[in-house]
Amino acid sequence: MYAQQTLPEASHTIVKSVVEARGLTDELFRVVRPESFYERPIPERHRILFYLGHLEAFDWNLIGRRILALNSFQEEFDRLFAFGIDPVGGGLPSDRPSDWPSMPEVYRYNQRVRQTLDAALEKVSFSDPGLPLLRDGYALHVALEHRLMHAETLAYMLHQLPLESKLRQAQAAPPAAPPAAPGMAKIPAGVATLGKGRSEGDAFGWDNEFEAQQVAVPEFTIDAYNVTNLQFLEFMRAGGYEHRRFWTDSDWEWKTERGIEHPFFWTLRGDRWFYRGMFEEIPLPLEWPVYVSHAEASAYARRVGKELPTEVQFHRAAFGTANGQERDYPWGDQPPQPRLGNFDFQRWDPVAVGSYPSGTSAFGVADLVGNGWEWTSTVFGPLPGFQAFPFYPGYSADFFDGKHFVIKGGSARTAGRLLRRSFRNWFQPHYPYVFAKFRCARSAS
Ligand SMILES: [Fe+2]
Repeated sequence: MYAQQTLPEASHTIVKSVVEARGLTDELFRVVRPESFYERPIPERHRILFYLGHLEAFDWNLIGRRILALNSFQEEFDRLFAFGIDPVGGGLPSDRPSDWPSMPEVYRYNQRVRQTLDAALEKVSFSDPGLPLLRDGYALHVALEHRLMHAETLAYMLHQLPLESKLRQAQAAPPAAPPAAPGMAKIPAGVATLGKGRSEGDAFGWDNEFEAQQVAVPEFTIDAYNVTNLQFLEFMRAGGYEHRRFWTDSDWEWKTERGIEHPFFWTLRGDRWFYRGMFEEIPLPLEWPVYVSHAEASAYARRVGKELPTEVQFHRAAFGTANGQERDYPWGDQPPQPRLGNFDFQRWDPVAVGSYPSGTSAFGVADLVGNGWEWTSTVFGPLPGFQAFPFYPGYSADFFDGKHFVIKGGSARTAGRLLRRSFRNWFQPHYPYVFAKFRCARSAS
């Protein structure tokens, strides 16, 4: 579909990372049967074809047009593929497949964007004072992480595509899981650092990661393992979905209006529950973490007399240590590796809780990063000192609306570089498509 790309030796490392990420998203699109590109697996989102054009249009609009002031060669596509849609509020999209260009046209556009951008980037200096957004490859970091985030949200979308519309891909076998003994870990009072300072080296971060904020966190306890499908099945069997008192008003209204009676990834056949995986439906794996919405996670927590952890409690449990030092990851300061958790595209589906003992935090809490994001009770908002990106003002600020909750950690489909401590993600409480799990906490009284 694309001509083989060879990069000149002089290419900057970050350009090489972008080219590698293109290979990753190209692979992801190969999951979709060609005749299914015009399907819309999630009703609130665009058809799959939009995303095929969007990744390149984003890079082109930011770097090609805005920063390098290159001439557009297909302006209509630059606009058509510029923006995704936010499912908050408004009605569902009503476009038809015939409103969209053909796949060969989109591939031709993409190919030309890549060639034009890469050739132009070869000629510019990343220290040109006239190109501040290119300093140290800054805009390339934006393009890279934008693409990697779409690699995950596309996976949510393709998860909802009927199995017969997909070409099955290989999946690594899960590691042998030691048995998990449910229990709670005690986290002593201490300080959690959210975000990071602008002066902390040159490491890239999105606008919502700045600036650093230190928060004193009182002692609390937190589940050492995520809530499993088995535990959630017990909640259901005990009438969890029917008892009004476990639900907030808006969650109850949502659940009742939509007739929701079980996790979105589950299907009942006869009297047996099945799990809808990426490429197959399997008998419900009881020891896997349950993927549910924030509303369902909160109802479960209320039933067991606990609550979802706050964002700072998550940080404290994941990165805190007994001596007060904070670490980069739950397991320590070394970068993510496959033996430490189910992340960085290792698998398409989760694995049993507690499968990665080497990734456990200093306080003995398992799977905080990987195997599914974790819901918190914290409403997404700016950290002190927040400044929106001038070239992408709505990236975070559009979601400071009190209707989104912070999720932390990462899923099997989260890129390794997005697992950094300061990275924050957010979703609406009723958005059921996310690879998000949870655990409960209890404040010391
Ligand atoms: Fe996007």
